[in-house]
Amino acid sequence: MIDPTALFSLSYGLYLVSSKKDGRNVGCTVNTFAQVTSDPLQVSIAINKDNFTTQGIQETGQFEVVVLSENAPMDLIGGFGFHSSKTVDKFEGWSTQVAESGIEYVNEYICAHVSVKVVNSLDLGSHIFFVGEVTAAEKGPETAPMTYAYYHQVKGGKTPPKASSYIAEDAAPATQEATQGKPAAKYAWRCTVCGHIEYADELPDDFVCPICGVGKDKFERVEL
Ligand SMILES: Cc1cc2nc3c(=O)[nH]c(=O)nc-3n(C[C@H](O)[C@H](O)[C@H](O)COP(=O)(O)O)c2cc1C
Repeated sequence: MIDPTALFSLSYGLYLVSSKKDGRNVGCTVNTFAQVTSDPLQVSIAINKDNFTTQGIQETGQFEVVVLSENAPMDLIGGFGFHSSKTVDKFEGWSTQVAESGIEYVNEYICAHVSVKVVNSLDLGSHIFFVGEVTAAEKGPETAPMTYAYYHQVKGGKTPPKASSYIAEDAAPATQEATQGKPAAKYAWRCTVCGHIEYADELPDDFVCPICGVGKDKFERVEL
């Protein structure tokens, strides 16, 4: 027997990975970044073949990673995690910096920034597992890294199908942050795709999630 929900007990962090594709900045949210050796200092990520960012990493052989902090807003995580760099400039509106590699990375709401040069890759079917050597690493302004559990339990975040840890029935319970404040409305509406919370008694029929772009039918009502 395989109970995939047994793997819900695995712990992860939350990261933004960025690279360059055809001279454009690309990037996405991942939870699969990890250190794999210390001498030499090597790290890994598992990233979906359909992600535009993956093509950037394959093209340049390099990527930047930032460790998100607990106060990273949902529109940063969701903006990088529920849209494709193919059609959206995800970096617009955020404070960014360009690494020595020429690759841009977000430099707010982060605990650390790491530059990586790919040294190996493994085809996992849906995903590619990249191993890379760390060419630069520095601490960021924040100190409390976002864990995957915090993202789910406190921020009310969701896991999209392309994430390595996706399981179809992934459903976040009502969260601390989601239900705080906003006394004007009796109800909140939670996006079942990305976890975004909209405070209103009713949503208009043409309502579109500001984070992931889905319609009203994907929202469920949460009592405050
Ligand atoms: C919380 C979270 C964790 C994610 N983890 C991963 C991951 O580890 N690997 C992956 O390939 N995609 C992951 N994703 C999905 C990508 O971020 C998503 O497919 C993104 O839209 C790809 O963008 P791109 O096409 O610009 O590369 C995650 C998304 C979220 C919101």
